[in-house]
Amino acid sequence: MRLRAPRDDEAEAVFEVILARDLADLGFADFTLEDLRDEWGRAGFELQADAVVCEDEGGSIVGYAVIRRTHALAVVAPSHEGKGIGALLLGWTQARERELGRERHRQGIASTDARAARLLLEAGYRREHSYTRLARELQAPAGAAETPRPPTGPDGVALRELAPELDAAAVYELDKRSFADAPDYEPMSFAAFNAEHIDVHDQATELSAVAEEDGRLVGFLLARRWQAERVGFVDVLAVRPDRQGAGIGTALLLGAFTRFAEAGLREAQLGVASTNPDATRLYERLGMSPRFRIDTYARAVTGE
Ligand SMILES: CC(C)(COP(=O)(O)OP(=O)(O)OC[C@H]1O[C@@H](n2cnc3c(N)ncnc32)[C@H](O)[C@@H]1OP(=O)(O)O)[C@@H](O)C(=O)NCCC(=O)NCCS
Repeated sequence: MRLRAPRDDEAEAVFEVILARDLADLGFADFTLEDLRDEWGRAGFELQADAVVCEDEGGSIVGYAVIRRTHALAVVAPSHEGKGIGALLLGWTQARERELGRERHRQGIASTDARAARLLLEAGYRREHSYTRLARELQAPAGAAETPRPPTGPDGVALRELAPELDAAAVYELDKRSFADAPDYEPMSFAAFNAEHIDVHDQATELSAVAEEDGRLVGFLLARRWQAERVGFVDVLAVRPDRQGAGIGTALLLGAFTRFAEAGLREAQLGVASTNPDATRLYERLGMSPRFRIDTYARAVTGE
């Protein structure tokens, strides 16, 4: 077994390992080859330095790790577990996080991956937060003769489709303001926000919306379209802090569910942090229920 940097033309082999891991941990794929290509192509991402593959004696890729903006991800092919590959990858992620000047080592794993949890606990990590994927089936729209209702917000609040070029700067500012108090919030630049949320292959402008009041942005919902699975994914939802609790978030979500169904999608999904019980309650009230959970484990970076 040896670690080395991946080459650009190895995305498919790396994806196979991630896919096998998802199937073992979640029972279905939650990451696509296009997601991987987006990640490798992002400005500031250095494939040579920010990712690594583990190769077996025959030269096959059987493990992969990557350093993301807030945490590391390491995956071992289920067929190659128990051979020390996880520990090798963990050592590499820690060295790279130290090099990048991170204050905490942090890694995300599926809640069902007991082997990874044991490895992290033995390495001094402790469970920090969780992210639960919630899902809800969508009703097929009523007969074609019925004109769809335009989504409406509370009095004085108008909802309209996202116009990425026009809205991006205001959406970014509102995202910063609404998430600033979240315990896991890490500030990000406008360029990084765009790269992660707007310039992604599955961003769906026609399924995304903004809420405006007196001509100013008071909320937004960014959606992605996962056509193969017929899923609409709510990537980010935020309402300006001084306008929260007034029904704007509910209107944005219900509007998205309607648009998803009209686009032929059969399910809505979104992720919510364990640190956000209020939002979780709202989503559950709107019929969403847990599908799977990712736990983050963390420890301080020391001079080890
Ligand atoms: C979560 C959020 C989008 C909800 O939008 P909203 O317009 O405040 O929601 P609504 O007014 O339609 O619904 C209110 C419900 O949302 C929940 N809620 C979540 N955060 C809230 C907040 N800061 N203030 C008031 N209600 C909040 C409450 O459970 C409330 O339900 P209740 O009536 O039973 O108390 C919004 O509060 C927000 O932007 N929060 C910060 C960013 C965030 O957490 N985004 C979601 C990430 S998954």
